[in-house]
Amino acid sequence: MRFDHEYFDAGLYRLGTRCEKWDMAREEHGEDVLPLWVADMDFPSPPAVQEAILARAAHPTYGYTAEMDDDHQALIDFWQRRHGLTIEKDSITLMPCVVTGLKLAILALTQPGDGVIILSPVYGPFRMSVEATGRTLMEAPLKRRADGGYDMDLAAVEKQLQSGAKLMLLCSPHNPASRAWTAEELTALISLLDKYGVPLVSDEIHADFVYAPGKFVPVLTLTQKNTMSLCAASKTFNLAGLQQASCICPDEKMRAAFRREMDKAGVRAGNIFALEGTRAAYNEGDAWLDGLMEYLDGNRRHLAALVAEHLPKARLTPLEATYLGWLDLTAYGFGEDELMQRTIAAGVQFTGGRFFGEGGDGFLRVNIGCPRRYITEGMLRLKKALEG
Ligand SMILES: Cc1ncc(COP(=O)(O)O)c(C=O)c1O
Repeated sequence: MRFDHEYFDAGLYRLGTRCEKWDMAREEHGEDVLPLWVADMDFPSPPAVQEAILARAAHPTYGYTAEMDDDHQALIDFWQRRHGLTIEKDSITLMPCVVTGLKLAILALTQPGDGVIILSPVYGPFRMSVEATGRTLMEAPLKRRADGGYDMDLAAVEKQLQSGAKLMLLCSPHNPASRAWTAEELTALISLLDKYGVPLVSDEIHADFVYAPGKFVPVLTLTQKNTMSLCAASKTFNLAGLQQASCICPDEKMRAAFRREMDKAGVRAGNIFALEGTRAAYNEGDAWLDGLMEYLDGNRRHLAALVAEHLPKARLTPLEATYLGWLDLTAYGFGEDELMQRTIAAGVQFTGGRFFGEGGDGFLRVNIGCPRRYITEGMLRLKKALEG
């Protein structure tokens, strides 16, 4: 099978599959809304995934299931092959999803009321996880560059460390700022945290979505101390419904604390189909993923061209990573509520910027993990929404 432009351009009819992106959009906003919101792609997962799940489903009993060495080996081989990271088997803990991992890590590494640093704007559940666990949010807002891109503000991070922060959550690559952090940036952050003895939890769920010539730098290639990476095949291969992710933590003490919290909460991995699908994706998904990245690279250029042509006052953050465009519409003068009302009325659903923090007011996040024609249609509807 060829995973070329035609394959990804064909897309997939997803209505009626309990698909959050399409079925919920339709239920909440009516028949004609085009969903370009939640980070979920409108492409089939690699054929090997479906084959593995169907093969297991054909065996007619679904009892307790054990994760085995080959489940770990598939993840180890994939990360070695694609990102040059060597992972020891013992450092892996499977869990249902990355957000579960964020919450467990906060519980494991901090006490109630402790400060947790985030680089805002950032994926909403970072903030929500800090709040839900009764910790104190400490923001170190990203700095905006003249080209609309974002940088870490290490001075702001250090200020929070001096104020007593006990943990840092990093989104790497960054959603929604579309940044692939460089080795230099990560090294500077790690040495700053090390100076204050503060642990780092790096959400690397978007690791596989870095566009050439950029390169994803796993934080664990730079340090193995006081650091954990939360990752998954779910974003990469569109398997979020399977509910499986991994915590990779070479630091024994930190890992033990994480596993204790997991045990206390009664959280377990080991979904029968998740194990089959994830192993197949890691072992046999490379050609599909290479094809996907080529297609998404075209999509990000297409989005930039459409914005330039139709939305003269908008500013698209340079998309170094992820399939999520961060669109600054503040020049149009609409707040979050009005932007959402106008876009839904024009028949298109984006993720509102405030989901990522207060700094996101007047922004929309555009999901380009879909056939290219949806992006064209979505941007034309957005133009109508802003002009109407
Ligand atoms: C940065 C980031 N982390 C975590 C998630 C969600 O992962 P999970 O479904 O494994 O909790 C997303 C989904 O969009 C994300 O963008």
